[in-house]
Amino acid sequence: METRVLPFNDETIAEAARLILAGQPVAVATETVYGLAADATNAAAVARIYEVKGRPSFNPLIVHVSDIAAAEEIGGFDDDARALAAEHWPGPLTLVVPIREDTRIASIVTAGLQTIGLRVPAHAAMQALLRETGRPLAAPSANASGSISPTRAEHVLKSLGGRIPLIIDGGPTERGIESTIVAAIDGEPLRLLRSGPIPIDAERASGERIEAPGQLASHYAPAKPLRINAEAADDNEFLIGFGPIAGDENLSPGRDLVEAAARLFDLLHRADASSKARIAVSPVPDEGLGAAINDRLRRAAA
Ligand code: TXA
Ligand code: MG
Repeated sequence: METRVLPFNDETIAEAARLILAGQPVAVATETVYGLAADATNAAAVARIYEVKGRPSFNPLIVHVSDIAAAEEIGGFDDDARALAAEHWPGPLTLVVPIREDTRIASIVTAGLQTIGLRVPAHAAMQALLRETGRPLAAPSANASGSISPTRAEHVLKSLGGRIPLIIDGGPTERGIESTIVAAIDGEPLRLLRSGPIPIDAERASGERIEAPGQLASHYAPAKPLRINAEAADDNEFLIGFGPIAGDENLSPGRDLVEAAARLFDLLHRADASSKARIAVSPVPDEGLGAAINDRLRRAAA
């Protein structure tokens, strides 16, 4: 694939929006670092982010929106969250809040969690892309897994060249480090999850009460026991199949790993909600996105 690097202007944004609405990830400048943006309502598009980055595991991704109103359509904001948003958005602050039940965000974006990281970016390029696509955009840093975050278009090209169709060059990023992340969950103290450009009062955001019930889980795991590499269902097992092993549900009958990643968390939730006591999952090849799928399944099985 040829990777085009185009300057930020109306024409580039129109082309980038076309690609994103067609399910492709596009790299774009933000005020923190360059992000690799995909339509957060399209599970396969988000799975492609993982494929492109070669990320060996699923992490919840930050969803970018154009303003507070758009954020409140996706997450539940308590008074603390509203105050922080009003003070710092648009800007390099990500708020982790409970996800609303009626949202169309794909479950792979939050890696199955019931919370979601939301940010209103300040950079004109990312803002223009949000406006032009009309979609919430999931975007991790636009670098291959294991390398450092890109602050210039040429960093992105070096890391992901040949793997993405387009980089929107908005010049060097102003901040140069990733956004501050704060969890603002109603009934819990504010918690600083990642330090960044916005200093957050450490007292309000310390890790105290870490054993308190309802503490923020960083990874989703099904509540039921899970068995991996299952060729067939045992008694009372909900089988998530892959390829020719049909199962009760199938990650991808055609063995497409992008499709399998896109469906993984939905099917785990469905298995968890089923009448069966246990979950089994068929073997998934350990190549490409399969490595991330297997990493998540191994953790759930442990
Ligand atoms: O500045 C930034 O935040 C950049 C630009 C592109 O916006 N994005 C970025 O994304 O740094 P990423 O994927 O590299 O980092 C996202 C971090 C992860 O460490 C993840 O654990 C945390 O955000 N995160 C996202 N949603 C979360 C959630 N629901 N609960 C806990 N942590 C969450
Ligand atoms: Mg990163």
